[in-house]
Amino acid sequence: MKIAVLKEAGGVETRVAATPETVKKLMALGASVAVETGAGFGAKISDADYAAAGATVAPRADVIAGADMVLGVQGPALADLPGIKAGTILAAIQSPFSDRAKIDAYAGAGLIAYAMELMPRTTRAQSMDVLSSQSNLAGYKAVIDAGEAYGRAFPMMMTAAGTISAARVFIMGVGVAGLQAIATARRLGGLVSATDVRAATKEQIESLGAKAIFVEKVAGISGEGAGGYATEMSDEYKAAQAELVSSHIAKQDIVITTALIPGRPAPRLVTDAQVASMRPGSVIVDLAVDSGGNVEGAVAGEIVERHGVKIIGHKNPASRLAPDASALYSRNLFNMINAFWDKEAKAAVWPADDDIVKGIKLTEGGAVVHERLLG
Ligand code: NAI
Repeated sequence: MKIAVLKEAGGVETRVAATPETVKKLMALGASVAVETGAGFGAKISDADYAAAGATVAPRADVIAGADMVLGVQGPALADLPGIKAGTILAAIQSPFSDRAKIDAYAGAGLIAYAMELMPRTTRAQSMDVLSSQSNLAGYKAVIDAGEAYGRAFPMMMTAAGTISAARVFIMGVGVAGLQAIATARRLGGLVSATDVRAATKEQIESLGAKAIFVEKVAGISGEGAGGYATEMSDEYKAAQAELVSSHIAKQDIVITTALIPGRPAPRLVTDAQVASMRPGSVIVDLAVDSGGNVEGAVAGEIVERHGVKIIGHKNPASRLAPDASALYSRNLFNMINAFWDKEAKAAVWPADDDIVKGIKLTEGGAVVHERLLG
């Protein structure tokens, strides 16, 4: 089985879908691996490192030629896959709901496209879960970015010259990114509070030593929420949340928002008036900016200043830690291939009725097959 690893298109995408470590592991299974020239550049991996791990390093058309499986971070346009043969598996982050034309083109070419971001949130699939591996790093990096823009110390410092007070940090949305943001801000010495709509997160926030700020007047989502996810909240809940958050936000130095609702634009959590209530010099990081943003005034790909408050809206935050993000993303891909590897056939075999295969497979046999893309 030949596995091809693509170089990403560039821009804010600096990750790569295989590292020398996973190349070696794939080869140990019995696969051959071809890596596109320069693929690891953004993640600080040289062509020589891949070659030393046993991969063939070659231009795109050569790595794709004869490949049974192609690995990428962001699924490229079909036009950028010269010579790809029908029946090839293409595994990448595909954004199928916002980029449907690309998925239709894959189907037209007979590709079997896998969307890694649709990996089921099950115990079995945990080691293949790219949303988790990348969000965790994004949550960490958001705190580091906030700390740099803040321009003051995080921890309380008692010195001979007097005391510096700790930064007050408020995390809105406590999924994978939010939990890591809480842990990181706590490690740096911040005074951390957090909120979510899912009741189960209250205990998680407190177990990390942060203060839970929860709407009490109107019921939120009980437990973990269906499948662990939030849904759009009622107008009554939103009003209660806005009231609670307004008085809290005005006292914060740093706010990090991570709230997402699957299949919908990100919920608006911070208004311009709330931004104006913060002290000048405060910082907001909107990690949901790629999905429409949680913060009024946040701009994707920019740091803007409103009322003396910096609002950071970096696109693709995990890419800002490309070597680590690539190492984890590559292991997610390897873990998936390994789980389906057939030793005798020396190839991965993907049963159509497997919940992981069903969860991620977008196209096959010339058609779009994923249930969420049909009808
Ligand atoms: P996400 O990225 O979809 O959303 C981030 C957070 O924003 C969530 O906690 C959500 O409840 C919150 N949120 C949404 N609307 C909000 C609002 N209006 N106000 C405040 N907060 C709001 O979440 P992520 O990180 O993908 O995690 C989703 C769930 O999946 C979690 O329960 C997590 O524990 C679970 N999970 C399970 C895994 C497994 O079993 N294999 C692996 C990873 C995560």
